[in-house]
Formats: sequence, structure tokens, C-alpha cells
Amino acid sequence: MEKMIGQTRLVLTQGDITQADTEAIVNAANSRLAGGGGVDGAIHRAGGPEIMAECRKIGSCPTGEAVITTAGRLKAKKVIHTVGPIYRGRPEDARLLASAYKSSLDLAAQHGLRSVAFPSLSTGAYGYPLDAAAKVALEAVRQGIEKNPGKFDEVRFVLFGQPAFDAFARVLRGQ
Ligand code: APR
Repeated sequence: MEKMIGQTRLVLTQGDITQADTEAIVNAANSRLAGGGGVDGAIHRAGGPEIMAECRKIGSCPTGEAVITTAGRLKAKKVIHTVGPIYRGRPEDARLLASAYKSSLDLAAQHGLRSVAFPSLSTGAYGYPLDAAAKVALEAVRQGIEKNPGKFDEVRFVLFGQPAFDAFARVLRGQ
């Protein structure tokens, strides 16, 4: 499923983000940049130890912010590590989730990376309900694209499984 936002193609796909051929892929990291399961584990496994070596040098990343490293052996040029909130049902959850998406797009734009793939941040181990997360994600990405006009050819969501794809597709259709 696709939609144009200015000159940027917003694409929803289903699959494994480690296989994405975008210039940047975004990792759902933790604030210690320590690696983990889910997308984080898959990216470090597929990209190799160079990614963790750079994460160690950087040290940490506050919730809602983003840092950038090599992509090791992945097809992407760079991995942007961002930290979504652990869902607790508080008003700041949505603000921090939106901030994680927008910080990632700002960082990609600063580095001249014209295509970016996102997973659905915070909706695995961090427990953010999928439908609510999809609304925040798509609104934040729209704002991030509009704030960086002409900077992106494509922003893609690589959604893991049908329920995640369906949740994002429902929101995008309704927008
Ligand atoms: N490609 C795309 N999406 C994936 C992949 C993959 N290879 N593997 C898992 N996912 C999906 C999950 O199904 C979920 O919808 O990514 C979404 C985010 O789930 P998590 O990876 O658990 O990320 P998050 O909820 O943000 O939790 C982050 O988990 O792995 C640890 O170190 C990480 O502590 C951090 C926490």
C-alpha cells in the first residue's frame, strides 16, 4: 500500500526489516543500546558485530531520540537506532513514540539518507497497543516528512506479520 506525501512515497509492506534495501533502516533499540530480542536482535545478527561496536562507543540514547551507526553487512548504508517508550498508558507515551519516529527522520535527513525503513516501534517487548501505535506512527512520519521537504524519496514501514500490516493499513486508508 502506498501514498504520496509531497514528493515522498510512503509505503506499507509486510516482511523482515533486515532485508530492506532502503538507505537507512531503523532499529527498535533500548536506551542502553545493549541489543536484545525482536527487531534489535535480528538487526545485530544479520548486520554483524560492527554495529554493536559502534553502539558501545556511542553508549546510550534517551527514549524518543535517535543515534546512527554503520549497517555492517546489511544492504542498508546506515542503521538508525531509536528508543520508543515502554507502554504504561500515560499521556507521554504517544509523545515519546512520535518523537522516536521524528528524531529518526531528522537524523536520516541530516545524513542525506533518502530512503528509510521503520519497524512498528514499541509494539513488541515494549507493549504499545498496535492500533494506537499505528495512528501515532503514521501521523509522526507524515509530520517528519513535511518538516524535511525534498529530503526523502521513500519512507517505508516493514511490518512483521498480518495483524501489524492490517493495523497500519486501516489507519493509512482512513487518513
Ligand atoms: N522486521 C520487522 N519487524 C520485526 C522484526 C523484523 N525482523 N522482528 C520483530 N518485529 C516487530 C515485532 O513484531 C513488533 O511489532 O517489530 C515490532 C517491535 O517489536 P520489538 O522488536 O520487541 O521492539 P519494541 O517493542 O520497541 O521493544 C524494544 O525490545 O529487543 C528489545 O532491545 C530491544 O529492549 C528493546 C525492546
